Amino acid sequence: MADQAQSLRDLARGIRRDLGLGSLVRRSRIWAVTSGKGGVGKTNFAINLGVALRGLGQRVLLFDADLGLGNVDIALGFYPRYNLGHVLRGEREMEQVVEEGPSGLRVVAGGSGLGELLELSPARVREFTGRLASLEEMADVIFLDTGAGLSNTVLSFALAADEIILVTTPEPTALADAYAVLKVACQRQPSVTFRVVFNRVKDTGDAVAAAGRLNAVSRRFLGREVDVLGHIFDDPHVPRAVCRQEPFFTLYPDCPASRCVEEMARKLTGLSAGRPKGLLGFFRDLGRWAGGGGEE
Ligand SMILES: Nc1ncnc2c1ncn2[C@@H]1O[C@H](COP(=O)(O)OP(=O)(O)OP(=O)(O)O)[C@@H](O)[C@H]1O
Ligand SMILES: [Mg+2]
Repeated sequence: MADQAQSLRDLARGIRRDLGLGSLVRRSRIWAVTSGKGGVGKTNFAINLGVALRGLGQRVLLFDADLGLGNVDIALGFYPRYNLGHVLRGEREMEQVVEEGPSGLRVVAGGSGLGELLELSPARVREFTGRLASLEEMADVIFLDTGAGLSNTVLSFALAADEIILVTTPEPTALADAYAVLKVACQRQPSVTFRVVFNRVKDTGDAVAAAGRLNAVSRRFLGREVDVLGHIFDDPHVPRAVCRQEPFFTLYPDCPASRCVEEMARKLTGLSAGRPKGLLGFFRDLGRWAGGGGEE
């Protein structure tokens, strides 16, 4: 039955492509959540923003794209049996790798598949993308929770996404590392779009001051303004929820951190961004960046 449905979807896609209707096909918007310094709150931000967006009617898929230390599953307290590697090796269908997480969040574990993804030949990418189309049909928004830092893997995932959400705390070391990511990404792709989230701020003034510092160096050395998505207060409800392996947004919807996340979710849904490149565009660009290429 599932095979039959898949064949029909493949057929419909083929027809749309043959008729040149590709531009009418719905595409997911892909946000890479990344940081310079590790441990600044990327995974918690991605999970809770995802839950908040679900509450606003968006279908959200969280993709654990941390090659070394993926931990979305641990943060959410469930253990996926399969990851992208199984799909790439033809052992499982994409639908079997998508786990239903809490609060309606869908999760895909990258696992061993991430390294393989970066090494796919263009022909294999095309083959794989056909199987990925089912993902596109189940998500309006896809968050990639990447690792921290400036490795080629992290940068490739970040640059291949539609936009980058750069998470930092207001600490000088975290700000310096965030600036390093901004700089390298802008050098590699001048048209890259960033939105910055200041996590664990004491108060609004703390967030404004941190944004001012990052903006000053960005304006001076990169000639561009930093676009601030928002801030999240340092809030004891966050580690409490982490210990219970549940999103703080679900456990404590009225806590200060949840209110900040809700505000950002509303801001993101209200954005009039351009047409997303979708998964096909994402995987095309991922191969290009991972292979050391640039914009064509
Ligand atoms: N707003 C916050 N208030 C209080 N504590 C926070 C907040 N955000 C994150 N934390 C704490 O920081 C820890 C690390 O967060 P998280 O795992 O989301 O970071 P990360 O950037 O994904 O780390 P890594 O680089 O290892 O992937 C959490 O376990 C949590 O206890
Ligand atoms: Mg993380």
